[in-house]
Amino acid sequence: MIEIGEILFDEKAIAVKVRELAALVSRDYAGKELVLVSILKGAVVFTADFMRLVDVPVTVDFICASSYGLSMESSREIRIKKDLDTDIRGKEVLLVDTIVDTGETLACLIKKLSERGPASLRTVALLDKRSRRTVDVPIEYRGYEIPDQFVVGYGMDCGERFRNLPYIAVVRQRQ
Ligand code: PRP
Repeated sequence: MIEIGEILFDEKAIAVKVRELAALVSRDYAGKELVLVSILKGAVVFTADFMRLVDVPVTVDFICASSYGLSMESSREIRIKKDLDTDIRGKEVLLVDTIVDTGETLACLIKKLSERGPASLRTVALLDKRSRRTVDVPIEYRGYEIPDQFVVGYGMDCGERFRNLPYIAVVRQRQ
């Protein structure tokens, strides 16, 4: 039985970091328009908060590439389940994800979206579980680095549960 353990980031800590990241992005893209590509489903909550704090004109689109399936173990198979609706050729594109773990999801999406000829392609991630990386991926805007613990909340799930928690917490196995 899974239960919520230690809270790593409460609502306030998340809000501070999201604001910081949005300020950096707003500064770097001043005078430009930005396409935010939100990676479903985990990035939905982060995207909603982040996009409201970005101070340049944005459009938002969604892509779904799933690797974890329904368990806590990564299957490492990346599947594109839903593609973008919009053409990103010649656009400034920012991939938005809540967590980078092995980096396989981002690497796959960066490769796929680069082939479509965007003017630029960068990444923002709230959490970086860097010790788990199996592929080198650029994260231009990075929030908190976290240890190798399974985290849920703020859009992230365990078996589709806990996405609605307003904080980010570790899950643990109840004895
Ligand atoms: C999670 C998370 C990232 C990805 C990171 O998504 O939201 O997109 O895994 O893992 P990686 O760096 O090892 O590729 P998941 O595949 O669980 O789908 P979900 O967003 O629908 O929960």
